[in-house]
Amino acid sequence: MEAKTPSQSKTIMTDMVLPSETNPLNNLFGGELLARMDRAASIAARRHSRRITVTASVNHVAFNRSVPLGSVVTVEAKVSRAFKTSMEVYLDVWVEDRKSGKREKANEAIYTFVAVDDNGNPVKVPELKPETPLEIERFEAALRRKQLSLVLAGKMKPDDATELKALFFH
Ligand SMILES: CC(C)(COP(=O)(O)OP(=O)(O)OC[C@H]1O[C@@H](n2cnc3c(N)ncnc32)[C@H](O)[C@@H]1OP(=O)(O)O)[C@@H](O)C(=O)NCCC(=O)NCCS
Repeated sequence: MEAKTPSQSKTIMTDMVLPSETNPLNNLFGGELLARMDRAASIAARRHSRRITVTASVNHVAFNRSVPLGSVVTVEAKVSRAFKTSMEVYLDVWVEDRKSGKREKANEAIYTFVAVDDNGNPVKVPELKPETPLEIERFEAALRRKQLSLVLAGKMKPDDATELKALFFH
């Protein structure tokens, strides 16, 4: 299987915030943003693997900035690392200023998807070759995040999480 670059999986979804998608403060409801990110990330994982992909875990979400009603929101998803059957997808969320058109970073998230066959069994995915400095940084940190996610899910012994442990002990 030929390796792919993050730009080959790049997925951009732009949509408005409508009244039914807001909380009582008239800001975008967190669950609505999670759903938008899940859809964009799923498409990115599918573009990388050309397989059916399922969400295995949501590793990190930071709602740093609220997103007001009527905003134009852009969700950008790219595969940041491919393992054997799983892929980490990194999401950047931008909000566009109505008057200047300038985009400001609102949120970030990291999802993990697994490629599966028609029976839901995990299947191998192509390797990922990061290109830009940011893609390389995200690629390198992805292994630690995978280990943390597996430890928290009770699927890996903390002792086996070598790269994660190295963050704390030198
Ligand atoms: C995701 C799923 C396929 C994993 O199945 P599994 O039996 O754990 O399979 P495996 O142990 O072979 O793991 C498959 C891969 O997922 C990774 N994985 C499993 N759980 C994980 C977690 N919590 N965090 C990160 N990675 C995880 C494994 O490390 C492995 O990765 P690798 O092959 O790249 O090394 C299975 O749990 C599933 O189908 N879940 C439901 C998915 C779904 O419906 N999502 C939508 C929710 S509504």
